[in-house]
Amino acid sequence: MSETITFTIDGKKIPAKKGQTIIRAAEEAGVYIPRLCWLKDLIPGGACRVCTVLVNGRPQAACTQPAAGGIVVQNETEELFRWRKNIVAMLFVEGNHYCMFCEKSGNCELQAVAYRFGITAPKYPHQFPQRAVDASHPDVLIDHNRCILCWRCARTARVKDGKPIFGVVNRGIDSQLAVGPEQLGETELKATDKAVEACPVGALMKKRVGYAVPVGKRLYDHEPIGSDIEKAGNPA
Ligand code: FES
Repeated sequence: MSETITFTIDGKKIPAKKGQTIIRAAEEAGVYIPRLCWLKDLIPGGACRVCTVLVNGRPQAACTQPAAGGIVVQNETEELFRWRKNIVAMLFVEGNHYCMFCEKSGNCELQAVAYRFGITAPKYPHQFPQRAVDASHPDVLIDHNRCILCWRCARTARVKDGKPIFGVVNRGIDSQLAVGPEQLGETELKATDKAVEACPVGALMKKRVGYAVPVGKRLYDHEPIGSDIEKAGNPA
C-alpha cells in the first residue's frame, strides 16, 4: 500500500500519495489549480507556469512539484493571481489568437482560463508574428498562430499514440512546433490520434468539423474551466 501524506492548500488539508504532484493531489481533493500544459496521465512538461503556487512561500510549478508531508501551499493569493493572469495575457499577444473566428472557441482552454481570470482585453501590445498554417494533412491542420508551445501534442503522440511526430525547433521567441518530416501530411498522424485531442487551443485541429457544437452548448459556455474539479470535491 502506498504511503499517504498530508499537506495543506490555502488551509485545507489535502491527502496525497507519496510521489504524487501537488496539482494531482489538489485535483483529487477538489481544488482547482489553473493549468495549460498539464494533462492528466501524462508526464508533466512544466512549460506554461500557469500552475504556479507558493510552497512554503516559494513559487513552484504545481504540476512538477511532488507533494510532501506538512508543506504549506498557497493557491489563491492576489500575487499568484496577478502572475498567472500576466502569463496568460502574454500568451495572447505572443501569438495570433482571434477567438471570435477560431473553431476552438468555447472549447479552448486558453480562452477559458482567460475568462476565469477575468481577462477581457489585451494587456500588452500584440506582436503579430508571421506564422504559417500547415494544411498538408488530409484530415488535420496545424495553425502555428494559435500554438502556445505546451508540448501536450508532442508528449501525447509519443507516449499514448506511440508516434514521436512532434517536437519544438528554435529557441526563445522563435520557438515553434515542428514535425519530424517537413510537413504534417508526411507523418503517420491520424485524426483519431490522442495527440489531436490533447491540444488545449486551436493549433492542432481536425478539418471539416469546425463549429460543430453550437454556441451555448460548447464545453465552457456555462461554467468556468475547473468547475468540474471543484464540484467533484464539494458535491452539493
Ligand atoms: S501546468 Fe504546470 S507548468 Fe504548465
